Amino acid sequence: MASACASSFFQFLSITLLLVTLSSMLSTTLASGISIKEATVQDLQLAFQRKQLTSRQLVEFYLKQINIQNPVLKGVLEVNPDALAQADRADKERREKAAGSLSRLHGIPILVKDNIATKDKLNTTAGSFALLGSVVPRDAGVVNKLRKAGAIILGKATLSEWSHYRSNGAPSGWSARGGQGKNPYTLDDPCGSSSGPAISVAANLVAVSLGTETDGSILCPSCMNSVVGIKPTVGLTSRAGVVPISPRQDTVGPICRTVSDAAYVLETIAGIDPFDKATIEASKYIPKGGYAQFLKKDGLRGKRLGVVRLYYEFGNDTLLDKTFKLHLNTLRRRGAVLIDNLKIDNIVEIFTDQSEQIALNFEFKLSLNKYLKELVASPVKSLADVIAFNKKHPKSEKLEYGQDLMVQAEKTNGIGKAEKQALLNMTRSSQNGFEKLMKRNKLDAVVIPLASFSNILAIGGYPGVIVPAGYEKDQPFGICFGGLKGSDPKLIEIAYSFEQATLIRKPPPLRKLEV
Ligand SMILES: *[C@@H]1O[C@H](CO)[C@@H](O)[C@H](O)[C@H]1NC(C)=O
Ligand SMILES: *[C@@H]1O[C@H](CO)[C@@H](O)[C@H](O)[C@H]1NC(C)=O
Ligand SMILES: *[C@@H]1O[C@H](CO)[C@@H](O)[C@H](O)[C@H]1NC(C)=O
Repeated sequence: MASACASSFFQFLSITLLLVTLSSMLSTTLASGISIKEATVQDLQLAFQRKQLTSRQLVEFYLKQINIQNPVLKGVLEVNPDALAQADRADKERREKAAGSLSRLHGIPILVKDNIATKDKLNTTAGSFALLGSVVPRDAGVVNKLRKAGAIILGKATLSEWSHYRSNGAPSGWSARGGQGKNPYTLDDPCGSSSGPAISVAANLVAVSLGTETDGSILCPSCMNSVVGIKPTVGLTSRAGVVPISPRQDTVGPICRTVSDAAYVLETIAGIDPFDKATIEASKYIPKGGYAQFLKKDGLRGKRLGVVRLYYEFGNDTLLDKTFKLHLNTLRRRGAVLIDNLKIDNIVEIFTDQSEQIALNFEFKLSLNKYLKELVASPVKSLADVIAFNKKHPKSEKLEYGQDLMVQAEKTNGIGKAEKQALLNMTRSSQNGFEKLMKRNKLDAVVIPLASFSNILAIGGYPGVIVPAGYEKDQPFGICFGGLKGSDPKLIEIAYSFEQATLIRKPPPLRKLEV
């Protein structure tokens, strides 16, 4: 009896201990009462100021979440061994400096997509073993700005390998180094190529993140993982030190849980970088006083929004259809003027023309070769080397997914007649299509369900902002606002106002390995 009692007592004790450790592991509330889960940058800064939270505690929280959830979600590729030291430095600076003298991202942990260079202990590989061990010459321009602002580089996020410019057959969100990233809501397709950033902020593995987009790579994963993505006007944010696809279309932008967080990140990373000349020309688009001033609840008032009927003709009564109608009404109620049933004149031409593919092929080869040449050391020095590397390591690089895009790109030979024609076609398509639509109707922005507009925004270098808009069963979906070059402030204003009117995002369930 006694021994049975004792043993069951010890069992009870060990179970209780287990429960305590588990619940403290899973707890998202600090002793001070601050809940970190779903906290915005503003919440975190307030908690810092009130001494309810330190950057060290914040980093420890996220490291724990990564430990628990990342084995399932695979949103994080590498954790920065120096993250805690950076947190301690931020805490020290906060103690020593005058309140209000620090930037909004000071002491805030950020995860950057693995194609964005960091000159530290982290590798920069675009998810491929071919770049493991490569040494970058310097931090990417955007990382340099993050460090100056006092942000903590928490680590590298997974992605579709080479930002999905290896093969059409590779699954979205998969890379040889990172494995298959999972959507935390469905444990299915996260969409890429900035899959890891979207997965990680959605699942509260980090405060904020950076992705990159060439065509859809910020907007689609944000749409699918119920987070906010800003695809900035091309050139607004430096691409220097980013494993490239196309200097004409590539752009670095925030993926966050809220529009305000995304605006703070954009404010920090936008601006001139001598290593990316396009930032000089685009700096005229940066508003004096930054982007935060456009976080206005009544930002929809008086805005002219075009509703472009692309794939969605409506009337089939799907949930998406009903939700979108509801949202259009919300936009109206908030004071926006909706101009409905708009069509882009040359939409068929845009969707059937092969110009983008032709351009990306030669641009990828030229710009990747340039990126690789500038590395201080690297196992591969050219696209041809990467292709050869993949052939040599078919198992680790899962060559069954193929490398058709790389092979196609390698066959190009600079800018010939066909390439020039392709570039001209896209300029013309944009002018006769999206630009004409916007100007003819005097629109501030267009509003589109999902990320279905990304192609039109991509070929013209236009900005887009996507915001959570609903859930179909477990699958989140977003609503996208797009505009002309330099309209990023307006899009933020519109997106913020819509977000505050609807507050749709809810966090996914906690994901951990079943034992
Ligand atoms: C970078 O890659 C090397 C080689 O695999 C590895 O030893 C190192 O831990 C990686 N760095 C980080 C921060 O994970
Ligand atoms: C509506 O449903 C019909 C029949 O399934 C389909 O052919 C049509 O494409 C759908 N329309 C839209 C706008 O989804
Ligand atoms: C570009 O435009 C021309 C003229 O409209 C057309 O013939 C051609 O198919 C387009 N596409 C490419 C890839 O050149």
